[in-house]
Amino acid sequence: MRMDTDYASSVSELLTELASYGAERKGGVTRLLYTQTWSQAQAFLADKMMEAGLEVNFDSVGNLFGRLQGVSPEANVILCGSHVDTVRSGGIYDGAYGIAAALIATRFLKETYGTPRRHIEVVSFCEEEGSRFPLAYWGSGNVVGFHNPELAQSLVDSQDISLKQAMEAAGFGKPDQSAPLRGDLHAFIEVHIEQGITLERTGDRIGIVDTIAGQRRYVITVNGETNHAGTTPMNMRRDALAASAEMIHTLEKVAIRVGEPLVATVGSMKILPDIPNVISGSVQFTLDIRHISETLLTGFCDSVISMIQVIADRRQVEVDITTALRSRPTPMDLVLAGRLERICTDSSISYRRMMSGAGHDAQMFGAVCSTAMLFVPSKDGISHSPEEYTEPEDLQLGVALLTELLYELAYEE
Ligand code: GLV
Ligand code: MN
Ligand code: MN
Repeated sequence: MRMDTDYASSVSELLTELASYGAERKGGVTRLLYTQTWSQAQAFLADKMMEAGLEVNFDSVGNLFGRLQGVSPEANVILCGSHVDTVRSGGIYDGAYGIAAALIATRFLKETYGTPRRHIEVVSFCEEEGSRFPLAYWGSGNVVGFHNPELAQSLVDSQDISLKQAMEAAGFGKPDQSAPLRGDLHAFIEVHIEQGITLERTGDRIGIVDTIAGQRRYVITVNGETNHAGTTPMNMRRDALAASAEMIHTLEKVAIRVGEPLVATVGSMKILPDIPNVISGSVQFTLDIRHISETLLTGFCDSVISMIQVIADRRQVEVDITTALRSRPTPMDLVLAGRLERICTDSSISYRRMMSGAGHDAQMFGAVCSTAMLFVPSKDGISHSPEEYTEPEDLQLGVALLTELLYELAYEE
């Protein structure tokens, strides 16, 4: 391979530096959209892109691009990167690795081979996780026209700050900064940690993604009646928390019955009034449901919604269900996946074709341009946690393979 391990090893340094923005005392990283640490991280990456000789610009929502201009101005762009935001107390690799890998690969190509034929753009998407506002893919989604901006901007975070307010406070979202949707993309490539245990179990060093699972996210609000915990008989309660607990328990049971690769999660809940001696009057919780088949995903979600309604009726509580995210299962490009296979085979790297249960920015590009994703192993399959870890040699291999693919697409074709 054209990149040696010494050069590729700078990926670990870059990840450590980036992790200082939002680092927590207990070891995790929190970089929520449009917060101060988020702005600092984007500014840090912009500096690194400039140092690498890339032309830097932010779009209207705060996605950061570093462009290596190709020979012919009318050529399309190879876009490569991932997201800069994290979940609360996440690890240092999720998203960050894809940006660091893209930056190092592009810098190496520029230093070694000069101007490419096609343009290469390194991207640091502003948001993917949905950790601050109840929507995900705000960054990549804006590049491809996935969101309804009006609707999205009215969403609020846990402090009641709207997305629009937060975006403007960070210096983005002004109408005069708005850019047309990108119609100039030849390909999107994302390198990422696997976030699961498949590669570690099989001993393969690389995962080449076939399909990214589709996702539905819902916000469920259950309204019952607040009352005294000591004086209200058990059969006279309209307990919103007890109703929610039954809904969640039933969801888990039916999801287990359906089996893999379906997954269903309730990851966030708010209880009102949240007092030990008061029956809960109102509960809001989230649902995150995923499958690689659109038909099965839709069928399962419909049955979950009916089940929630049946439980609500029996318990005499009201329920309101809003859809926060719908993303379809997304196949990756077969030709690009084939190229990656060949690159691995030529270098005697063991790889496997696999699905991704985790959502990724690549999902947003599947319908817009040829898209590929490459995974490196995650220790013990742990992610969205401070324990997230990938061996430096695996990080380096991902960067070296990405470099090969970028070279083929941007210099050789
Ligand atoms: C993002 O990491 C997701 O899969 O939710
Ligand atoms: Mn990610
Ligand atoms: Mn993530």
